[in-house]
Amino acid sequence: MKVVSVINHKGGVGKTTLTSNLGAGLAARGKKVLLIDLDSQASLTVSFFTQAEWQTDLVPDRTIKNWFEGLRGEGPDSMSSLIAKPERVSAYLTHTGGFLDLISAHRDLSEVDTALAAQLLLDPEHYLAAHRRLREGLQEKAFADYDVTLIDCAPNFGLIAKNAVAASDMLLIPTRPDYLSINGIDSLGRKVQAFAQEYNEQLGEAGDPGAPLGRPPAAVVFTMVQLHDNQPIESQRSYISRVSGLGVPTFQTTVRDSKAVYGPAPEYGVPVILAGTGRALTRELRDLVSEMVAHLDEVAS
Ligand SMILES: Nc1ncnc2c1ncn2[C@@H]1O[C@H](COP(=O)(O)OP(=O)(O)OP(=O)(O)O)[C@@H](O)[C@H]1O
Ligand SMILES: [Mg+2]
Repeated sequence: MKVVSVINHKGGVGKTTLTSNLGAGLAARGKKVLLIDLDSQASLTVSFFTQAEWQTDLVPDRTIKNWFEGLRGEGPDSMSSLIAKPERVSAYLTHTGGFLDLISAHRDLSEVDTALAAQLLLDPEHYLAAHRRLREGLQEKAFADYDVTLIDCAPNFGLIAKNAVAASDMLLIPTRPDYLSINGIDSLGRKVQAFAQEYNEQLGEAGDPGAPLGRPPAAVVFTMVQLHDNQPIESQRSYISRVSGLGVPTFQTTVRDSKAVYGPAPEYGVPVILAGTGRALTRELRDLVSEMVAHLDEVAS
């Protein structure tokens, strides 16, 4: 099973939209897909479950918050007990051989993030346990049955996002082709590097036999690209080419800007890649899935 975090501490760049479409697209190709929603906004969760399903069936005791609470001895014994199956999208995946499951977010997740980070200041010896909680949860045998886990991160680089990095074989960085977003790629790279270094120092100091963290391979996906004559508009093209200079691989396929299509999709519980009507747009998403499959084949699990 390969673990991929969809991460960018910059908000509103299309992380959740990309996660849901890639997840559904991979499942439609026969992959066994798990999505994990690490954002207290729960946008990914409510892109697959109705608000009522989330509130009634998941919020009380079946969200990823329960797993992090286990650090204080109050959580479930296994992370796989938190897995839920969204029905509306599953109906589109029968006969594909693939499926899509999800571990949902909780609206108090950001409070848990802050509380755990504050607790660490008092008990620094729990640093490793707190940062590899998700990685350890995913070691459970039940998760080996999945081909890929996609983690939708919140727009910050707190303790929970660091957990995602520590659990990942690869990082996917959705980015808008504009000045501030491009700057964000560089700063995210530095944050990831600093975190891996800090984690490894802690391992050394504790004499812990756990594996050190490398910096996972990363790739940028351009989102909300404005097209003219099937080409990104001039101003965006220059930002896209500037990223090549940063040395981070980029997906050749870009996601076009289409508020009219992407805006309403989450309410229906089926991502655009499965339910969309725009032919060029769904073709582009399928191309993106093909590139993702190639990347997954390359990364070591
Ligand atoms: N390709 C696109 N074209 C137009 N609108 C888009 C596109 N992708 C996403 N959007 C819209 O932009 C908004 C933000 O997208 P999304 O929630 O996926 O971003 P995000 O990075 O996950 O945000 P956050 O940082 O808040 O988690 C949503 O309203 C979504 O419908
Ligand atoms: Mg999001």
